Amino acid sequence: MTVTGAAGQIGYALLFRIASGQLLGADVPVRLRLLEIPQAVRVAEGTALELIDGAFGALASVDVFDDPTKAFEGSNVALLVGARPRTKGMERGDLLEANGGIFKPQGAAINAGAADDIKVLVVGNPANTNALIAASHAPDVPAERFTAMTRLDHNRALGQLAIKLGVPVSSLAKVSIWGNHSATQYPDVTQATVDGKSVTEAIDDQAWVENEFIPRVAKRGAEIIEVRGASSAASAASAAVDHVYSWVNGTPEGDWTSAAIVSDGSYGVPEGLISSFPVTSTGGSWEIVQGLELDAFSRGRIDASVAELAEEREAVQKLGLI
Ligand code: NAI
Repeated sequence: MTVTGAAGQIGYALLFRIASGQLLGADVPVRLRLLEIPQAVRVAEGTALELIDGAFGALASVDVFDDPTKAFEGSNVALLVGARPRTKGMERGDLLEANGGIFKPQGAAINAGAADDIKVLVVGNPANTNALIAASHAPDVPAERFTAMTRLDHNRALGQLAIKLGVPVSSLAKVSIWGNHSATQYPDVTQATVDGKSVTEAIDDQAWVENEFIPRVAKRGAEIIEVRGASSAASAASAAVDHVYSWVNGTPEGDWTSAAIVSDGSYGVPEGLISSFPVTSTGGSWEIVQGLELDAFSRGRIDASVAELAEEREAVQKLGLI
């Protein structure tokens, strides 16, 4: 398994969860291949020392690389966490170009050397479009193996609903995140249930849903930065573990989760965009939940976020990144 950005703050939280067997199961041996840029290799090596000191039963080996080709060799799972953050004064084009420089070679390296059953989760932002770039440089890997993370948004939505309704998260089901992992995303409760009954009816307050819940979930990242003084790390790592665990082991009967996967045109989302949908897995591949009725409000919100994804795709096309 390959983890990029291993010296970063998400990496530090994520690697210990993986080594303890929470990603694939406690009895599945994990060979960790960590990828970093040369300047951060030493820090990643420090984390590798600590991983050894964890004496994890499932951790078979840990190696650190600064060469993507070597790092992805033989990998079955790739967690692409390392990315170029937006810095002050950076235009969107610059951001996409900088990330193209990371995700193009990583896609090519996955194509060249990863195992045939490789599953890729992109966490590094802009996650959906970074996944699109990587996928387009891995022509031999089926596009549906490249996914981007909206599980943190999904989990944030569950957390807010649990507080509002005074129930444990386990009482909730069928929450959906649609579109881009950005402030335009649509956290959708129209299908959601609490102990089998409609969440919309239980809340009975559309103004709260539209004016508090949706913006809170969509802008939770900024709230965490403001309160914690640093961006979400442990919750992001936890969501990455959840995403891969559900993908490999399946989602529970009668529920679904959210993941950004390649669109097959479902719900009018243009084919080929990597967009978040409500999804299920029976173990090994994601399926988009079909047949949901979308009200006018939901339709408008989904269209707006998908339009942003289409613009990002156009921008990376113009830059020659895909
Ligand atoms: P960080 O800045 O602490 O760590 C990023 C690491 O990536 C650094 O160690 C850096 O050296 C490394 N890196 C940069 N380019 C690389 C390359 N080409 N190959 C390998 N490693 C490389 O950032 P943090 O907090 O760990 O976040 C990582 C990414 O995850 C960010 O892009 C962040 O925006 C994103 N994120 C996504 C979320 C989601 O829900 N999809 C949630 C939270 C964060």
